[in-house]
Formats: sequence, structure tokens, C-alpha cells
Amino acid sequence: MERGTVLVTGGNSGIGLECARVLARQGRGVLIASRDRAASAAAVERITTETGNPNVSEMGLDLGSFYSIRRFARRIEADDVPLQALVCNAGVQFSGGLRLSSDGFELTFAVNHLGHFLLTQLLIDRLAANAPSRIVVVASGVHDPARWSGMPKPAIADFETLAASGGARAGAYNGQLAYVNSKVCNMWFCYELARRIEEERVARNAERITVNAFDPGLVPGSGLARDYSPAQRWIWDRVLPRVARLLTGAVPSISTAAKSGDALARLVLDPTLAQVSGKYFPSHRRWQEAPSSKESYDLARARELWDESLRMCGIAARG
Ligand SMILES: NC(=O)c1ccc[n+]([C@@H]2O[C@H](COP(=O)([O-])OP(=O)(O)OC[C@H]3O[C@@H](n4cnc5c(N)ncnc54)[C@H](OP(=O)(O)O)[C@@H]3O)[C@@H](O)[C@H]2O)c1
Repeated sequence: MERGTVLVTGGNSGIGLECARVLARQGRGVLIASRDRAASAAAVERITTETGNPNVSEMGLDLGSFYSIRRFARRIEADDVPLQALVCNAGVQFSGGLRLSSDGFELTFAVNHLGHFLLTQLLIDRLAANAPSRIVVVASGVHDPARWSGMPKPAIADFETLAASGGARAGAYNGQLAYVNSKVCNMWFCYELARRIEEERVARNAERITVNAFDPGLVPGSGLARDYSPAQRWIWDRVLPRVARLLTGAVPSISTAAKSGDALARLVLDPTLAQVSGKYFPSHRRWQEAPSSKESYDLARARELWDESLRMCGIAARG
């Protein structure tokens, strides 16, 4: 029976906030984890008032800092949070020049992939102890070079370059390229984690932890464009949400935060998905299971990313 707490990273804004709202409405305990504590506290208050669910709370977490992630995981242990689902939703996209995390990694890669990778490693035993549990990785349709997105096509030559510059050649930083590359990493991470968890589960005859990937579609109006120029932000915040509300019924790859948040929550709540793992649920298929990009099924690259991520996070492989 899945009744334990759902941790939603980036749950104080956009798609994550809407997902947290639906989870709370369905009676689940929800823990929002983001950097902006005031925004998180406001989200908790709003959700609690709206749903009457008293089991909604927040904790500070900076996925761009290993120190913060480790401190956060220690608090989850100390507070004995009955964690039964993890929604890896937080994400950033930058324009302008190269930014590094406090640990020295390109910030998009650090927050969107590496931070979630470390967080999952630190919380997996707790999820296993409370299993059946679920992990959902929020990726994006931009990971797929075969689909038009208006963004650059992903290009990952090697993981060292990716971690140093988001995939661009030295001196040629491109925030959009770093973003689409980080979303390919989300897919590799999801599939590799699902494979490893399943192997361990079979070996130990343990309860299931499912791991699936989600594409919310194009969701204008969220905080994702906060680093854009004022003119671009105005279009993203004011114009495109109206277009999305008009088109979303006919064009499934365009959505609203409420609609995508609801679909994301379904991956945590839907009993028919209790045994489904290692799958992709994209908006263009109205969040039914569908294939992801050809490259996302590259086992060798997924394994390499896993090993490199362990090394970058400074943790040893599980025996
Ligand atoms: N909007 C779209 O069109 C779209 C399309 C495809 C995929 N996605 C994906 O959907 C997810 C949610 O994005 P959104 O559009 O809802 O954007 P959003 O409104 O900006 O939400 C992003 C969330 O991530 C949190 N966050 C950012 N940096 C963080 C950090 N270092 N540590 C912890 N939390 C951090 C933010 O909170 P704080 O700033 O308080 O930390 C915020 O709650 C992302 O993974 C994004 O890539 C979005």
C-alpha cells in the first residue's frame, strides 16, 4: 500500500507545485524541497488551506550543492520521514555565460542531473525500506533529436566536457545546449536506475521501487524562463500561457502547469502503474507510455554516465 510521503524537488513553483497540490488533494503526505524557503512556505500554506491536508511541509534544498544535498538527506533520516516516492522535478535553464555549482560543475548539469543523482543515492535505502515506492524523473521532449523543439539538438561528446561546460567547446557556452544535454542525462539516469533497482529487487526478492521518466510538454508561464531577457520573459509569462490554454486540447505537446502537474502526480498515484518501471510518459502521447529517443536506450552511455556521476559525487559503487 502506497501512503507514505512524496518528496517533490522544485515543488514551490510551476509543474512541481501543481503536482504537489494534486498529491495533497489525494491525501498523500508531501514534502516540497527547493531553495527559496519563503516561496516554499507560501506553497505549503496555499496547498494546506486548499486541500485541508495537514501533512504538507517543506525543507530547504540546493541541488547545486553536494553539501546541501547531504545535509538534506541527513535531516530526512533524523526526522524519520516515511518516504515512499521521489519526484525529481527541479530544473534550471540559463542564458548568458557559464555558471558553475559550488562543487565546480556546470550548473545546469549539476542541478538537473548530478544533484538528483546524489539525492537518489542517499535516499534509496529509505525508499526501499518503505517499498513499494516510486521514483519519477522529470525529463523533457527536448532530449529527443528526432522531435522538433526549437532548441539545439543534444550533443554529448564526453561526460567530462559535459560536466565542465554543459557540452560546449571551451569558451562557447550555450545554456540551451546545456539544458537539452542535461535532459538526455535524465533519461539515461532513469533507465539505468530502473535496471539496477530491478536487478537488486530480484536478487533480494524485495518489494518494487518503480522508476519512470516524464515529459511535461511545453509549459509556458513556469519559472523556467527566469533567466531570460525581460522581453522573452514577458512573452513566456504573459503571451504563451494564453496560447497554451487555447491549444492544449488540440496540441498535446503544449500544456499548462496545472495539466502537466496533474499528469505528473498520476505517475505517483495511479495503481495501474504500480508494476510499471523503466518507461517514458511524454505529453505528445497524452502521457501514455511511449518510446523515448533512440539514443536514450544506449546502455553503454547510461552506464558510463552512472559511473562518472558516482565519481563526480565522490561516492563508492554499491556492492
Ligand atoms: N516549462 C516547460 O516548458 C518544461 C518543459 C519540459 C520540461 N520541463 C521540466 O519541468 C521541470 C519543472 O520546471 P518548471 O517549468 O515547472 O520550472 P520552474 O517553475 O522554474 O520550477 C523549477 C523548480 O526547481 C527549483 N530549483 C531550481 N534550482 C534549484 C536548485 N538548485 N535546488 C533545488 N531546487 C531548485 C525551483 O525552486 P527554487 O528556485 O526555490 O530552488 C522551482 O521550484 C524541470 O525539470 C524542467 O526541466 C519544463
